[in-house]
Order: sequence, then C-alpha cells, then structure tokens
Amino acid sequence: MKELFFETIDSTNTYLKKHVDELEDMTFLSSDYQSVGRGRNQRNWSSSKGLNLMFSLLIKDEKVLDQYSCLSILCAYSIIKVLEEYGVDDVMIKWPNDVFVRDGKICGILLEGISHERLEAVICGIGLNVNQTDFDKDMIHEPVSMKRVLNEDIDIVSLRKRVYQVLSENIEKLKCGYDFCDEICCYDYLKGKDVYALISGERKQVKVMGIDHDYSLRVNDQGRIVNLNSSEVTFHI
Ligand code: BTN
Repeated sequence: MKELFFETIDSTNTYLKKHVDELEDMTFLSSDYQSVGRGRNQRNWSSSKGLNLMFSLLIKDEKVLDQYSCLSILCAYSIIKVLEEYGVDDVMIKWPNDVFVRDGKICGILLEGISHERLEAVICGIGLNVNQTDFDKDMIHEPVSMKRVLNEDIDIVSLRKRVYQVLSENIEKLKCGYDFCDEICCYDYLKGKDVYALISGERKQVKVMGIDHDYSLRVNDQGRIVNLNSSEVTFHI
C-alpha cells in the first residue's frame, strides 16, 4: 500500500488520474481540502477544510478491474461497515453510489475508469461527511454527517485508517471470489420505492425490486421485470 496525503489539492481523483502511470495499485490519496472537488454528473463536491474524509483509491489489479460493476457498491458497503462500528445506525446504500442515513446523504462515491484499449485502472473517489454540521442549502439530497448523527467529534486520522483497512480487506476478498451480494442486499435503500428509469429510451416510473446478483437494479415495469444499469435510473420519487 502506498498512502499519500496532501493538505490541499485540486481533487484527489484528478491527481490520481494525472499520475496513474507512475502510481502503484492500491495507492490511497487523501486530502483535508479540495479546491476543485468533483461529484457525479459534472457537479462539484465542496467540503469544509479538515472536517471530512476525502480520498481516492487507485485500483490497477486485473482481477479487481474485471469486477468493475460491483466496485462502487463495494466501496459503499465498506463505508457502511465502518460507520456501523462507530455506532451510526440505519445506514443504507442508495444504489449504486451513495450512502444514506435514513433520508440524508452521508457519503458520495465517484468512480472513474481509465481505459485505452482496455480498462487499465479505476479511481474510487469517496467523500464522507464526518465533522461538518453546516452544509450548502442547495444540495439535491439533505446532507448528514457522523457528527450530526452521533453528536460528537470524530478523529479523522483513525477513521481514515479504518476505512482503508476495511476497503482493502473487502477488495482482497473480492479477488478471491467472495460474493458480497446477500450482505449488500440487506442495505438496499431503494428497494420497494418508485423511481424514474430510462427503459428503451423512454422515461418510466417503475418499482424497485432490489439489487440483483450482478449488482444491477431489478425493477418492475408494469409487471415486466427489467434489470437496469446505473446510467438508466434518473432519480427516485
Ligand atoms: C457524488 O456524490 O457526487 C460523488 C462525490 C465524490 C466526492 C469525492 S471526495 C474525494 C474524491 N475527489 C473528488 O474530486 N471527488 C471524490
């Protein structure tokens, strides 16, 4: 493992992307502040300096890259396991990239693949709200943090170590063929909810049946069962 830390950076994901060729598999880069933190769908990810956990993990191992479709969910699951150890209850995965506590978002994940002729690396960028209690008002999902839930300050250095440990252990298990699906399905936030989905180019309201064994989302479209990938579900109602 190679651990890097920068007090300030533009974005941990961007840095790993730029330096992908010279960095080794499982390089873990964290920072106290990102000046151009990035979220999904070209949104930005802003976070007060030193209050939250922001890091990116570089994955180059082929066995892991072969299981690209489950990486985002595996990161979310690993974060949930650590949050539970810290006493945060009711934590769920909002398929495929977010971690929710009840109806508030506590963690977001931005996965970026780097490919030329084939997939060469994946960068898993994770932003976990830890000690921040005031957030921008215009967020799509109401943000929550560990401090808001637990009413206490969390030591970010120990948290960072534990997150890295749990993530590495789970990635090792994945390499050995371990199937996380049943464990992950217990944390399915969208199960039973109505969402809008793009099915054959048409936007439809469907009911979520649950996360499937290939980590796609199984939905019921007026009696017809359809499996969706992440780009096909727009938002939940
Ligand atoms: C989202 O929910 O939109 C994903 C947010 C991902 C934020 C993390 S913070 C560390 C890493 N570096 C970035 O620029 N983004 C990710």
